[in-house]
Order: sequence, then structure tokens, then C-alpha cells
Amino acid sequence: MSSVLILFAHPALEKSRTNRLLLKACQSVEGVTVNDLYEEYPDFDIDVDREQELLLAHDIIILHHPFYWYSSPAMVKQWQDLVLEHGWAYGREGNALVGKKMLNVITTGGPRRAYEEEGYNRFTLRQFLAPFDQTAFLCKMIYLPPFAIHGTHRLTEPEMRQYASQYKSLLTMLTTDQIDIEDARTRQYMNEFIID
Ligand SMILES: Cc1cc2nc3c(=O)[nH]c(=O)nc-3n(C[C@H](O)[C@H](O)[C@H](O)COP(=O)(O)O)c2cc1C
Repeated sequence: MSSVLILFAHPALEKSRTNRLLLKACQSVEGVTVNDLYEEYPDFDIDVDREQELLLAHDIIILHHPFYWYSSPAMVKQWQDLVLEHGWAYGREGNALVGKKMLNVITTGGPRRAYEEEGYNRFTLRQFLAPFDQTAFLCKMIYLPPFAIHGTHRLTEPEMRQYASQYKSLLTMLTTDQIDIEDARTRQYMNEFIID
């Protein structure tokens, strides 16, 4: 079994359609801890010791957030800036996170076809996520492709419920080590592993 830590960041959960459902779905999966960063730190005053302890206690770290300006909401950046300290997370003696896995779980307003080189966003989602990929690499972690839900504005209730159920399946597969990591690293999306 692997333990999963979800670092959840949504600055306006009361207005959320998609992430609210996703959050609810993941709370019941065994082996998963949800850390709601905006709820925990409304003043952005992150408790670094608490966050580092949580990281140490888990094998797989998920950054779960809506896609904002081709990246994450500000809280994720604040969390990275404060928690991933030199000499702890990276650097010659910074080995706290070695071998842990990291991935993003993302919802985007833009449709899937917009996240292709010929699409209006000009870059793929994986290309936009390069800073996360490299951050994980610098911390000697294994970066996995994202689980993504595109086109959120047009999703119907049943479609959203289906994505929530897929997210739950993914979490179960991760906690029970059912995903071939080498194979996963070659994919564009973790969604590819889920068969409805
Ligand atoms: C400040 C802001 C920036 C956004 N930037 C992007 C973006 O860069 N690309 C995109 O596809 N959608 C963008 N969106 C749309 C959100 O990703 C979308 O509304 C969200 O994923 C829906 O999830 P929710 O229902 O849980 O809020 C943005 C929304 C906001 C409020």
C-alpha cells in the first residue's frame, strides 16, 4: 500500500462546480489524506513544520487545483516557496523527498483540443506543467503526468460525477500500487489508466 497526500488549493470553493465534487469523492478513499490549503491557511501563513511532516508521512503527493493563468492558484506557489526548503527538499543534503511521487490533478476551463500545439493555448498541458515536473526532479522525486478534467464550463452533472468516480478509481489504483510507474511516465495524462 502507498499513502497519498492531496494538497488541495481552490481559493473560492463556494463557487466551484467541479472541484467541490472531486474533493468529496477523494475524502472516502482509504490511505488518502486531504490537506485543504486555503481552508488551513486563509492568511497564507503556512505552517512549514506541519507541511514537511505531512510530506514525510506520505509516498505520493498530489497537487490538486484548478488551472489558473496556465498554472496554479497562488497558494500552491506560496506552499512551494516556503515548504520546499534548501537542505531539506533539494540541495546536496536535501533528501527528504527522494523517491516520492508527485502529480497534478487539474481542472481547466479550456477544452482538451485547446491544450494541443495547434490549439489556441499553443502548448500542451504537460508543457505548461514543466515547472512542476522540474521542481519534482530537483527534489529527487518521480513526476507523473496529470489527471486532468478539461472544459469544465460545459460539463453536465452526470459528466462531473463520472470524473469524480474516475478520480476515486485513480486514487485507489495509486494507493494499491496498481499503476506501472515507468509506463505512466511516458503518458500525457494519468486519465489513460482509467477504464470506465
Ligand atoms: C483567475 C482564473 C484564471 C483561470 N485561468 C485559466 C487558464 O489559464 N486556463 C484554463 O483553461 N482555465 C482557466 N480558468 C478557468 C478555471 O480553470 C475553471 O473555472 C476551473 O477549473 C473550474 O473548476 P471549479 O468549478 O472547481 O472552480 C481560470 C479561472 C480563473 C478564476
